[in-house]
Amino acid sequence: MRPQQTVLGIETSCDETAAAVVRVDADGGVEVAASIVLSQVDDHAPFGGVVPEIAARAHVEAIDWVIAAAMERAGIDFEALTGVAATAGPGLVGGVMVGLSTGKAIALARGIPLVAVNHLEGHAVSARLTADLPYPFLLLLISGGHCQLLDVEGVGRCTRLGATIDDAAGEAFDKIAKALGLPYPGGPALEALARGGDAGRFALPNALAGREGCDFSFSGLKTAAARIAERVTGEDERRDLAAAVQGAIARQLAERSERAMGVYAERRSAPLLPLGGRDLRFVVAGGVAANAHVRAMLRDAAHRHGFSFTAPPLEYCGDNAAMIALAGAERLALGLVDGMDAVARPRWPLDEAAARDRPTHIPGRKGAKA
Ligand code: KG4
Ligand code: ZN
Repeated sequence: MRPQQTVLGIETSCDETAAAVVRVDADGGVEVAASIVLSQVDDHAPFGGVVPEIAARAHVEAIDWVIAAAMERAGIDFEALTGVAATAGPGLVGGVMVGLSTGKAIALARGIPLVAVNHLEGHAVSARLTADLPYPFLLLLISGGHCQLLDVEGVGRCTRLGATIDDAAGEAFDKIAKALGLPYPGGPALEALARGGDAGRFALPNALAGREGCDFSFSGLKTAAARIAERVTGEDERRDLAAAVQGAIARQLAERSERAMGVYAERRSAPLLPLGGRDLRFVVAGGVAANAHVRAMLRDAAHRHGFSFTAPPLEYCGDNAAMIALAGAERLALGLVDGMDAVARPRWPLDEAAARDRPTHIPGRKGAKA
């Protein structure tokens, strides 16, 4: 079947330079024709975290050939594209500007529409790249800069049910990993260290235990774990601490998700909300969704509450351009396009109303990726 949309996606909001070509046919079938992700991990590793200036420069140097490689792998010319989608935020603004202006240049030169995509919307649709996953669904988005629960009704239609009041889940993994002397990025390194560890050896605080709602908090856990890490010396102890940390993060994610499942089910049965079938779907996305223990805890929680469970394959958990291309294709199908005046945005909440009315953070105190 002739594809309805063939979209080039561009992602440069943090430390991955990525380009992808995604086709969506008239029945909504999705094919990732190419997905190239060039990681800058080695550039940033000596500094223990992402350095914005280094990231922006590396994106400038790589973006043209990463796009060329994606087009070549997809086996198409620019004439075959029905649109170009570029991340326009939130993220490190120097990097976002590189990808967005490249997207604008391609759109102008080829006379095709531009879609300025919210990076978080990319993560929100990422499970739809490979799974037959209809809207609506309950989404847990867990990455280096974000930790939130969203009722997702479609692109551009998200309601935030909860969010972190301090660190993101990935940030907690990264900071505690650093305290344990593990290399950047800490999440995968901590997961590897935790293998075979005894999670019961160290008691860690259960954040927001008495607090209602679906918000998260990881800063107490981070402080407690860092303090234990200072006095831990043996390899066994380090492994047990890593297992305890991973367990505590996964437990909090699962517990808040279970609360959100209750809220979501109630919202869905409300007569004002149109139902796309009575199915209850729970989806996890973002870099931390790559963690096997986190995935297993969330799968159990979903099944306990009568929700299906979907997570993207590992290659689409972390930052990639296929998810940006798909969000762009879905927007194009709805006629949602952007002009050459689209701006790069360091902050860009998915649910702007909730961010305005119920801020979980005091502006200016968030991490770089937020
Ligand atoms: O989605 P992502 O690639 O970038 C952002 O948009 O933030 O997420 C990166 C985050 C990092 O904090 C990284 O440590 C974490 O995801 N991460 C993991 C694992 N793989 C990546 N955390 C725990 N376990 C993992 N296996
Ligand atoms: Zn991301």
